[in-house]
Amino acid sequence: MTIITIEHAGKYDAQEVTIRGWLYNLRESGKLLFPIFRDGTGIIQGVCSLKENPEAFEALKGLTQESSVIVTGKIRAEQRAPGGYEMGVSKIQIVQKVPEATPFPIQLKEHGVDFLLDQRHLWIRTPRQAAILRIRAEAVRAARSFMDSQGYTLTDAPIFTPAACEGTSTLFEVNYIDDQKAYLTQSGQLYVEATAMALGKVYTFGPTFRAEKSKTRRHLTEFWMLEPEAAYAELPDMMDLGEGLVSAIVQSVVKNKSRELETLKRDVKKLENIRPPFPRITYEEAVAVLQKHGNPAKFGDDFGGDEETIISSAYDRPVMVHHYPSAIKAFYMQPDAVRPDLALSFDMLAPEGYGEIIGGSQRIHDYDLLIKRLKENNLPEESFQWYLDLRRYGSVPHAGFGLGLERTVAWITGTEHIREVIPFPRMIYRVYP
Ligand code: 4AD
Ligand code: MG
Repeated sequence: MTIITIEHAGKYDAQEVTIRGWLYNLRESGKLLFPIFRDGTGIIQGVCSLKENPEAFEALKGLTQESSVIVTGKIRAEQRAPGGYEMGVSKIQIVQKVPEATPFPIQLKEHGVDFLLDQRHLWIRTPRQAAILRIRAEAVRAARSFMDSQGYTLTDAPIFTPAACEGTSTLFEVNYIDDQKAYLTQSGQLYVEATAMALGKVYTFGPTFRAEKSKTRRHLTEFWMLEPEAAYAELPDMMDLGEGLVSAIVQSVVKNKSRELETLKRDVKKLENIRPPFPRITYEEAVAVLQKHGNPAKFGDDFGGDEETIISSAYDRPVMVHHYPSAIKAFYMQPDAVRPDLALSFDMLAPEGYGEIIGGSQRIHDYDLLIKRLKENNLPEESFQWYLDLRRYGSVPHAGFGLGLERTVAWITGTEHIREVIPFPRMIYRVYP
């Protein structure tokens, strides 16, 4: 018997095939049963009649949700069925029956989100969650393939680090071997600055950690970041790379994950627009836009979610805001030559209120200036000696950015809260399951 996956069922019209999966739902109507099966690639409706297949009918009748099954039957086109095809079930083998006494905890009705998060290991079986995770995987694949195509070499940054990268207030301290102190990385940036001096154009893509006390729909304590870094690159080079990367990710998802976007009822037209060039405005222009909207923002303020939503709402694609005041940005950012109070930095804000998906900058390449900035930020010079070496031995202008994977996928999938776009979210009050 030909074993197929549900996503390819359409290729087997009028043929008898086998599907290995789980019983997602079962509707009983007298002498007819209408099961819905899922196998991780999609769902398909089945029909089983007592008259034609009494054995399969008896096995299926009353079968509990999420019991694992191997089913055989003929595929046929059916306009009204989800996915356009259904299966006439002729044979069913039950691999494990979920006991009636302990039914699957997630029923096909509305549940509270705290309950669902406690059941995250099971929640991911539902079509919406599975579609989001498939889109996340496509986004990762597309992002890596775009970076590789641009001549960037993957160099992985460490997770245990000796010092902060993005401010000491969100550091996770780890009790390392023999009472040495270490921290979970907030960003691989400092390390890709080193590999960029070794290999030219590089990136790292891995988990990063921030002890964020903020309980917003855009913050996780563990999230994935893609961080390119290039030697001899300046701020505009990174803005070009950022818009290319984000467009490539969105267009790959549109092209290869249309079924999933449909499951999520995502407005694909909004995604089809996402192509370069993206609008670019200065921080000072952004402040003026905010003031025009009656927002109290003034020069020197950092933008929060509300401000980012106002700024981005004027555009149908991501907007890049550049030249933020140095005072509100990280220690390593290169000041503008003409306006040293401004940093050669940019943030990319996603449309539809999803906020900052990229933060990046040109880096300080001058040794003395970097020392000065470390001191001003009360950062321990001893821990940064290796980083200072990059300014001692053949220092060059260089730049990079970090793209937050979950923020990007939340926007592409139209998901309200980023906790749903990572298999197992870590948040201020959640490390289970
Ligand atoms: O703007 P951030 O803090 O930049 C950096 O970490 C730089 N060192 C990156 C670099 O230049 N190599 O973070 C970059 C992105 C943000 O734009 C956002 O998308 C995401 O990382 N991000 C978070 N995502 C989820 N939860 C959080 N707590 C996040 N903090 C940042
Ligand atoms: Mg940022």
